[in-house]
Amino acid sequence: MVDTLEHDILIVGGGGAGLRAAIAAAEESPDIDIAMVSKVYPMRSHTVSAEGGAAAVIKSNDSLEDHFRDTISGSDWLADQDVVEAFVREAPDEMVQIERWGCPWSRESDGSVAVRPFGGMSIERTWFAADKTGFHMLHTLFQTSLKYTAIKRYDEWFVTRLLVENGRCQGVVAIELLSGQVRAIRARAVIVCTGGGGRIFQFTTNAAIKTGDGMGMAYMAGVPLKDMEFVQYHPTGLPGTGILITEAARGEGGVLLNNKGERYLQAHDLGEALDVNDERHPQLRAMELGPRDRLSQAFMKEEQKGNVFRDSEGSYVHLDVQHLGEKKIEAKIPFVRELAKNYGGVDPVYEPIKVRPVVHYMMGGIDTDIDAATKLPGLYAAGECACVSLNGANRLGSNSLTELLVFGARAGRNASIWAREHPEFDSAALEQQASAEQERIADQYINNHDGKERIATLRTELQETMEQGCGIYRDEVSMKATTEKLAEIKARFRSGIQLDDHSLSFNTELTSALELEFMIEIAEAVAHSALERKESRGSHQRTDYVERDDEAYLKHSLAVHSEGGPQINYRDVAITKWPPEARVYGRDH
Ligand code: FUM
Repeated sequence: MVDTLEHDILIVGGGGAGLRAAIAAAEESPDIDIAMVSKVYPMRSHTVSAEGGAAAVIKSNDSLEDHFRDTISGSDWLADQDVVEAFVREAPDEMVQIERWGCPWSRESDGSVAVRPFGGMSIERTWFAADKTGFHMLHTLFQTSLKYTAIKRYDEWFVTRLLVENGRCQGVVAIELLSGQVRAIRARAVIVCTGGGGRIFQFTTNAAIKTGDGMGMAYMAGVPLKDMEFVQYHPTGLPGTGILITEAARGEGGVLLNNKGERYLQAHDLGEALDVNDERHPQLRAMELGPRDRLSQAFMKEEQKGNVFRDSEGSYVHLDVQHLGEKKIEAKIPFVRELAKNYGGVDPVYEPIKVRPVVHYMMGGIDTDIDAATKLPGLYAAGECACVSLNGANRLGSNSLTELLVFGARAGRNASIWAREHPEFDSAALEQQASAEQERIADQYINNHDGKERIATLRTELQETMEQGCGIYRDEVSMKATTEKLAEIKARFRSGIQLDDHSLSFNTELTSALELEFMIEIAEAVAHSALERKESRGSHQRTDYVERDDEAYLKHSLAVHSEGGPQINYRDVAITKWPPEARVYGRDH
């Protein structure tokens, strides 16, 4: 028998998207009761580590049309254009709203909101709070959520599955980590806001909690994962740790240099290098402010030519901000200095920072429509775990913090309308499902003393094969090998995991096992979607199909879960006003 709790709306995930959804739901329906379940305390969610900023049109020299066009070309035409139109339109109001709630946006000397250049944007439109933007946004949303008594939190609870009955999502099963008790939480609507799954790769900026749980549970409940082959490498991570050195360092004028001291991006169709003291610096949509996919690919080509540095932590290039001077570095990118000193061993005021591309973001995720609804009635998703189709094949830096506001709010509002209209539960069936899940967890993990496979071994092998088959450049042979390796890992996982800890309270080994189950599922979705897309587009670059092929692949991939592995289907991209063109960057574009 499993204890059952009940709420109108249940939000899984306590980061930026989840908090924004909770606030929107509370505002939309003041009489509705909302719960938020998070495996970590909300202020430890990964939103906290976002650094550089959030994009939205604010200045009179900018326009919604320009933000739309930058996002579409950045996406290599794979973003749905109706979604991008709604996003750019709603973004400014969301940014002003969060300021009214207390977000301390950095200001110009005249008191107006300051904006900085960011990769792939044709104009300065990235709002920032120094280089701790995610920290301030998360704090603001968290504090704001506290004033709504309708929002109840279950901090440090781990959701293991969705409860689906009668064709509707009606809640979740979750473990209270403190007691180890399994509970059913019935809900009239569920919103998944659990972030991405970058931890399926070895070298990532993603926090250890980003294991794709929400994507995995929606996928296993029959909701497709869309565009999973598109994995973003951020061009500037610290070797060794993968810690992000924000694009803001380049937005403020930092340059990338190879081992010959050259600004090598000019050899990669990203414009020409200007003198660092040139007044046109930094160059918008060019050189260091080109899009992330192109910059990461340029690094790989430099590596092939032997133009990168090497040491015990692998290959790297230099990110140089010395010419900005200590005063500007301290004012605009103080966290870059702190991170470089503490984790890179250099003070960037006096020395360049070693950087290399690092897995940062998943463009793909739970397939949702423009209202954040999935095809499973009662289930919504927002933030990095979702794919509303804003980012297509390559996200522009600083669009994702704004995305979690715009689509988090949409999810909250729409879920509350759904919850009001669907009050009834299939209680007996839900209870049965929850009991079955409790038994599964006990049999498979807590009471199982016969498992042979170690979590860490399987996880490392999974991360290695993803890096080998689904990295910056891919081909048929390596991706095929990855899909086969993943099938082997899945079979070994199912043969039984050896746990040393069989206790109930804060059993982190059990949590890791449950996370690994989701990681295997979403890694399969990435690898199979990548293998099936026989073209190169955005972050999906194949050495055996080097051209973009709009005829065959101007389509979203949809990975559908099945026992035998993912089935890949396709859906057309929504083109409302800008048909595909060549994707060109550089000074004249
Ligand atoms: O470089 C950065 O600050 C990352 C921003 C983003 O991913 O949007």
